[in-house]
Amino acid sequence: MITVSFNLNGKDVSCTVDAKEVLVDTLRERFRLTGTKKGCGTGDCGACTVLLDGEAVRSCILLTAMVEGRKVTTIEGVGTMDHPHIVQQAFVDASAVQCGFCTPGMVLTAIALLNRNPNPTEDEIRTALSGNLCRCTGYQKIIKAVQLAAERMREGR
Ligand code: FES
Ligand code: FES
Repeated sequence: MITVSFNLNGKDVSCTVDAKEVLVDTLRERFRLTGTKKGCGTGDCGACTVLLDGEAVRSCILLTAMVEGRKVTTIEGVGTMDHPHIVQQAFVDASAVQCGFCTPGMVLTAIALLNRNPNPTEDEIRTALSGNLCRCTGYQKIIKAVQLAAERMREGR
């Protein structure tokens, strides 16, 4: 067992975990942050995406030990029901959510994209989201949601 200290959604935390424990399990089981979904568990679907120092990463293939001293942001850390993040609101407004299982990962991937590229082309959005799988929506509305969020962010809305 090892003790890992990191910043989680703006708060300094620490936990003692098995050296082989992956971050998605730590987040869900130790911190009860169940917005991070576990789909494939093999790095293929993107449902477990979180931000690590602002970059989108798959928490099912990231050892918790690797986040020592780093900044982890989950979907719970980007907005609330009363004050959703611009990207979350855009997903609602574009009707880009059906069952919602893929949505936290999609939103976090989109946030990482828009932080490094505020004016992405449709191709760039598709490329950024290519590792996030959705079984429900057919992707068109998700792309629209990211375009809407980008527009609103640029306009400061
Ligand atoms: S659960 Fe991590 S990529 Fe699918
Ligand atoms: S909304 Fe159901 S998997 Fe994407």
